[in-house]
Amino acid sequence: PHVSMCVSCPDFEKAAKVVLPLKSYVYASTSANSGLSLRANLDDWGRINFRPRVMRNVGDVDTRRSIFGHSSPYPFYISPMGTLGAIHPGAEPEVVRGAVRKGIHAVISTASSKQVDQIWQRFEDEQKTLGNASPTRLFYQYYMPVDRKRAIDLMHIVKKCGYKGLWITVDTPVLGKRTADRVLQAEEALAVGIAEEGTVEWETGEENAFAPAMGGRVVSGQLSPHTTWEDLQWIRKEWGGPIVLKGIQCAEDAKLAYEYGVDGILLSNHGGRQLHTAPSALMTLLEIRTYCPEVIGKLEIFLDGGLRDGSDVLKALCLGATAVGVGRPFMYALAAYGSQGVERCVDVLAEELSTGMRLLGVTSLDQLIPEMVNASRLLNE
Ligand code: FNR
Repeated sequence: PHVSMCVSCPDFEKAAKVVLPLKSYVYASTSANSGLSLRANLDDWGRINFRPRVMRNVGDVDTRRSIFGHSSPYPFYISPMGTLGAIHPGAEPEVVRGAVRKGIHAVISTASSKQVDQIWQRFEDEQKTLGNASPTRLFYQYYMPVDRKRAIDLMHIVKKCGYKGLWITVDTPVLGKRTADRVLQAEEALAVGIAEEGTVEWETGEENAFAPAMGGRVVSGQLSPHTTWEDLQWIRKEWGGPIVLKGIQCAEDAKLAYEYGVDGILLSNHGGRQLHTAPSALMTLLEIRTYCPEVIGKLEIFLDGGLRDGSDVLKALCLGATAVGVGRPFMYALAAYGSQGVERCVDVLAEELSTGMRLLGVTSLDQLIPEMVNASRLLNE
C-alpha cells in the first residue's frame, strides 16, 4: 500500500510484514518467553481511561515538549533499536533522515548497524540540507562494554560527535530469552544486516565488541553483567552530560536513581524482550506515583513500550512522564517506506496527539494532570 494509506500505527506493521523477510520480521516483533510483557505493554494503555474536560476553547493546541532543554515539536522520540540494517538497507541514517525532517529527537543504539560517527555525519548532512533549522537532537543508547577502556573510548567518541545525552540501558545484563528468534535461528539472518564495520572503528583494528550486536546468543558475551550503581560515578565523570537510566522497573530503583543523581529515568521493560512478566512501564509509573511520588518533577521521566496512539502518549504525560519513546512502529515504518515511513509515522502520532488534546480539553501539554486519567481498574486488579 502507498504510505498515505497508513493511518494508524498498526498499519505500518501490516505493511512491513509484506516486505520483510520472515527472519527480519521476527527480529523486530519478537519478545521474551511467552510474550506476556509485550502484551501487557500494548494492553495496559487501554485499561486506563481519560476523564475529559469540555468547553475549554481548544481551538489552538501546542504539542511542544523539551528533553533536557532541547525543544521538540512533540513529546515523543524514536527509541533506540539495534541492527536496523536487517530491516532496511539505509539502517540508522535513514531513520535519522526522517527524524530530522520532522524535528523529533532520536536515540541511537550501541548495537547499530552503522558506525556511531557515520550516523552523526548523516545527521549533520540532513541538518545542513534544512539550513540547520530542525530542532532534532540525537542521544546515545549505551550498552556497557565488558572492557572499561573500551567503555570509556566509546563514550568519548559519542561525546565528540555531539550526541546530547547518554541513555544507559540497565535492563540487559544478559539478553532475555527471545523465543521466536531462537526458533527461527534469526541470528544467522541478522549477521547479514549487522554492523558491516561495527559501531566504532577501534584503533587497534580488533574486531569491534559490538559488531555482532543484537544477534541473540552472539551478544550475550559482549554485554557487561557486572555493572553496579557505583559505576555511575566514573561514567558521570567521563561523560559529563545528561544521563538517563533506561529500563527502571520498580519504585525502589527509581528512588535510587534519584539519590545517585542521574538526570533522567526511562521506565521500560525493553519492549517486552527481557524479563518475562516484567511490568509495563505504565504499571511502573503508577507504582512510582504511589511509593516515591517525590521523584516526579525532580528527574526527567521517560517511558516506552506499547505506545501505539497519540492518546497513549497523553496518558503517560498526565501521569508525570516528560516524554515517551516509540520503538517498533518506527521500525516497521522504516521497513516498508524508509525515511518517508518514519515521517508518516510521526504525522500519524502527531495528529492523534493534537486531536486527543482537544477532546481532553487541554491546549498545552503542561495542562495534563493525573486527574485527567482514571487508572482505578488497573490499580484494583
Ligand atoms: C529494541 N530495544 C533496544 N533497546 C536498547 O536499549 N538497545 C537496543 O539496541 C535495542 N534494540 C531493540 C531492537 C528491537 C527490534 C526492538 C523492538 C527493541 C528496546 C527499545 O529501545 C524500546 O525499549 C522498545 O522497543 C519500546 O517498545 P515498543 O515501542 O517497541 O513497543
